[in-house]
Amino acid sequence: MVSWEKPHAVLIPYPAQGHINPTLKLAKLLHHKGFHITFVNTEYNHNRLLKSRGSDSLKSLSSFRFETIPDGLPVDPNHGDATQDIPSLCKSTATSCLPHLKNLILKLNDNNCGDQVVPGVSCIVCDAVMSFGVDAAQELGIPVAVFWTASASSFTCCIQYSQLLRKGLVPLKDSSYLTNGYLETTIDWVPGIKEIRLRDIPSFIRTTDPNDIMLNFFLREMERSQRACAIIINTFDTLERDILEAFSSINSLPPVYSIGPMDFLLNHITDHELNKIGSNLWKEDQECITWLDKQEPNSVVYINFGSITTMTNENLIEFAWGIGNSNKRFLWVIRPDLVAGENAILPNEFLEETKVRGILSNWCPQEEVLAHPSVGVFLTHSGWNSTLESVCNGVTMICWPFFSDQMTNCRFSCNEWGIGLEIEDVKREKIESLVRESMDGEMGQQMKEKALELKKLAKDAASDPNGSSFQNLDKVIHDALLSKF
Ligand code: UDX
Repeated sequence: MVSWEKPHAVLIPYPAQGHINPTLKLAKLLHHKGFHITFVNTEYNHNRLLKSRGSDSLKSLSSFRFETIPDGLPVDPNHGDATQDIPSLCKSTATSCLPHLKNLILKLNDNNCGDQVVPGVSCIVCDAVMSFGVDAAQELGIPVAVFWTASASSFTCCIQYSQLLRKGLVPLKDSSYLTNGYLETTIDWVPGIKEIRLRDIPSFIRTTDPNDIMLNFFLREMERSQRACAIIINTFDTLERDILEAFSSINSLPPVYSIGPMDFLLNHITDHELNKIGSNLWKEDQECITWLDKQEPNSVVYINFGSITTMTNENLIEFAWGIGNSNKRFLWVIRPDLVAGENAILPNEFLEETKVRGILSNWCPQEEVLAHPSVGVFLTHSGWNSTLESVCNGVTMICWPFFSDQMTNCRFSCNEWGIGLEIEDVKREKIESLVRESMDGEMGQQMKEKALELKKLAKDAASDPNGSSFQNLDKVIHDALLSKF
């Protein structure tokens, strides 16, 4: 017999750090609202979490459980982390995960979970780029919401991929279009965005191949996402109002709910066991916090390119001397696989010269770092989580977008919100001058004021019970997730 004592939500993040983090936050919020939670990681990432965080952190609560499905990638111990190859990962999750998810849900509904009584699955919340969850939910007759873990601007641009194809703007005619100024072309028909250049649109349109894996992946995921009962977006209304309002003019879209930034909503949770559950796939280095404690307020440049970005060693060296020559203090997180295909090698001279004013790390507790008063500016790849975490803490940014939605996030941070400066060319002189400008210049001062204003708006949206995100979370639960409960 299936028990229906309480609602049971199954959450499925895309298997990458920048998706697991926000999905775990949403899962905690739903648990706080009374849901039994099953959080579905891929087997590979589950094992990584066990290694980086210890098994206790994943089995602390009887009503918040972790389950796994395979990601479909071959496991080859002689090769690096295959999940860092995004096209392969997208292809394999899209083609192989659906039957595993359906079996898992049937198993959960059979109450086949050891000695514990698990309520029947009453809804699914899947990542918009794991939209096989929509098919699973529809086949099983349960409500499904998709979670776009990034910004509303990147979502609305991705929805327009099909129009870009229809209008013949994409795919590119040939590879010279990547560099001949074509990407500067502006379009003015994306709902809620007055004008946007092709280069600001999530980068999977930068292909000459109509069969390109990522282009077709996004076309399919966007089409399938629109069949969900609701779309949840990790943003807040005062940050992206025009775009959020324009969603109602797109007929194919179900209702959209902005519920970010979730950190402020999470502050209402006092359950210690729940708060302890973490999602970092790399082991966090706490020493950098001790180091930050010893620095002056607003004095440190924090550099981190997230979990996927790679660069050449030449880029790394330009960044090093740009930061080094600015004479500022810095905390620089260099992921072991940051330099594509090789080990990151910093010049000895740089290491020697900066050892008293800089600290290097492999992976840090980023939210703690951004909340630290010593941090003056964040040199970032403009991943959405990094951007939103910066906004939540009133920290200004120097943006070096690498791929995907980072292009769009950079454009909005620098041009619309005025809280960032873009690095267009990785040259040490440029980086040095942007670091100086953002830390000491007049523009840096103006950006700081805007960043503090946005921090307040973010807090108002998600902390105050009358705030839009605070209320939208209850609305999406009521309108979609509990609609058949
Ligand atoms: C990916 C995509 O690349 C990004 O464009 C998209 O918006 C989300 O998914 P990623 O590149 O890893 O994410 O960047 P980001 O979105 O910034 O997410 C990284 C997350 O890891 C953040 O929550 C950040 O706080 C955390 N992190 C990163 C750490 O905790 N420590 C680190 O040292 C680095």
